[in-house]
Amino acid sequence: MCGIIGYVGAKEVVPIIVDGLKKLEYRGYDSAGIAVFEEGKINRRRVKGKIAELEKSLNEEPLKGHYGVGHTRWATHGRPSEENAHPHQDCTGSLVVVHNGIIENYLQLKKRLQQEGHTFQTETDTEVIAHLIEGYYENSLEQAVQQALQELEGDFAIAAVSVKDPEKIVAAKMGPPAVVGIGENEYFVCSDLNPLITHTKEIVFLEDGEMVVVEPDGARFRDFSGNEVTKTPEHITWNPLMIEKGGFKHFMLKEIFEQPQVVRDTLQGRISLDTGKVFLDEVGMPANRMDAIKKVVIVACGTSYHAGLLGKYFLENMAGIPVDVEYASEYRYSDFILDKEVLVVVISQSGETADSLAALRSIKERGALSLAICNVMNSSIAREANGVLYTHAGPEIGVAATKTFSAQMAALALLAIYLGQMRGNLDPKESLTFIQELQRIPHKMEIILDRAKSIEELALRFVPFSHFLYLGRWVSFPVALEGALKLKEISYIHAEGYPGGEMKHGPIALIDDLMPTMVVVPKDRVYDKILSNISEVKTRIGYVIAVAFDEDEDIKDKVEDVIPVPQVHPLFTPFLTTLPLQLFAYYIAAHRGADVDQPRNLAKSVTVE
Ligand code: G6P
Repeated sequence: MCGIIGYVGAKEVVPIIVDGLKKLEYRGYDSAGIAVFEEGKINRRRVKGKIAELEKSLNEEPLKGHYGVGHTRWATHGRPSEENAHPHQDCTGSLVVVHNGIIENYLQLKKRLQQEGHTFQTETDTEVIAHLIEGYYENSLEQAVQQALQELEGDFAIAAVSVKDPEKIVAAKMGPPAVVGIGENEYFVCSDLNPLITHTKEIVFLEDGEMVVVEPDGARFRDFSGNEVTKTPEHITWNPLMIEKGGFKHFMLKEIFEQPQVVRDTLQGRISLDTGKVFLDEVGMPANRMDAIKKVVIVACGTSYHAGLLGKYFLENMAGIPVDVEYASEYRYSDFILDKEVLVVVISQSGETADSLAALRSIKERGALSLAICNVMNSSIAREANGVLYTHAGPEIGVAATKTFSAQMAALALLAIYLGQMRGNLDPKESLTFIQELQRIPHKMEIILDRAKSIEELALRFVPFSHFLYLGRWVSFPVALEGALKLKEISYIHAEGYPGGEMKHGPIALIDDLMPTMVVVPKDRVYDKILSNISEVKTRIGYVIAVAFDEDEDIKDKVEDVIPVPQVHPLFTPFLTTLPLQLFAYYIAAHRGADVDQPRNLAKSVTVE
């Protein structure tokens, strides 16, 4: 949700900020803006629409300067428009602010500031911050920001710059992420790592309640009360190539094709093919409490929630432990009952999703043990949980999650085998079988990706459709949900994922020749059952596409089209059956000319409630 970037140093600032905003664009893309400083003047440019519009405007009428801030917006307060685009300024136009998050008490603050004589130009909550800082300004920007922070309620990551206190950016965090990049005589403040890795690998992660002042020759950290805080930079291993499209038309397609490697990387160093052991010592969980857990609750949003549903099957089967899976946005407001013997697993690619983070905080208050499964190093959820199991998927740029879903499945399978061994639910032979199966998955994924062309040809026939039903049972049910989610997210086709057995309780009424059904039907314990569901669809003149095993000859007579996938252990079929559904959604969306990597209204990292 909204991306911010600031730079101070010797280089020309506009290209750095524009390039940074492009890499942040997946956080929000309804308007964008930049403010750069030169010779005691602020030059501000804002546009409605994407960064490309901002870039066009800057090419036509260039701005110059050596420090400044930029912003890409996902609107919360105030419709997307040029005037509501950040950076926002105070009455005199001598300072600007960019902001990610929501200022919950902005209406009270605005009223008071207006009574004090401040004039507002926008409908945003952010503008109050600029006027508050203006009001408190005495001798330095740092002092004024610090005082303004005392009045703000809600979530925010902000960066402020003033002509009165030149060559300096003051940033602060309470909720959404904020990182500081440390270069040679140059410093960056940013919403996430991606834009910074082309400039520096040395990163400081701000904690909630911390602020920073960056100048060309250093960075100073304080808490909101003004006490100095010592921060040590972390060395980041992501490399710049990871955030390039690498010859693919869209990031999403590239990321779909990265899945074999992502699964390899997530397994690497954590399994023994000799003994069948899983090693998760790095996770940092207290062994005595892991030993004692009697139940697991998985909490997540979006695609991570679907991975969580699969985690339930893995954990119940392999670890023999009961599992509940909850939407974070619901769980956080429920009267949930937890004790010390419950392990809560919070799954979040970004590690910043507001609902998942809030759920984690309430969970911790009630004494449960928490484990994060995150992709972004040092993200809030990763830092706040008792332990973290990282997925090694690298940066995911496409807003619709693909490779991180596979990485999350791999992490959950590892966790299930690990707990299965710890609890004596799996003997070494069984563990080894599962591990060998996992080890073979990347190669089988490659076989599916090699068939992408035929999936594209199939998808082309469905470009004009407006509705789709996705069915699956047992482990294929979350796959159906995820397949439907991918299609609606990026192609805007209405798609519903349903458990096959539930179809007769409602969705069957929708079936006709205008609503095709995608059925995930690997040979597993519910194969015969889902075949019956296919018959139920066919009897109603429904068109069925099946994702089925290569060896399954029988299915060919029962459905119109088959997308074959290699055979795999029944529990692990989602690793393979998900890929054709991602490709199917991708090709339909791409052929519809949709903005695949940045679908309308969505954001990659939802840091507001
Ligand atoms: C947004 C993204 C989804 C993602 C969800 C949860 O809605 O568009 O792709 O699955 O947030 O994000 P998280 O970072 O917590 O996994």
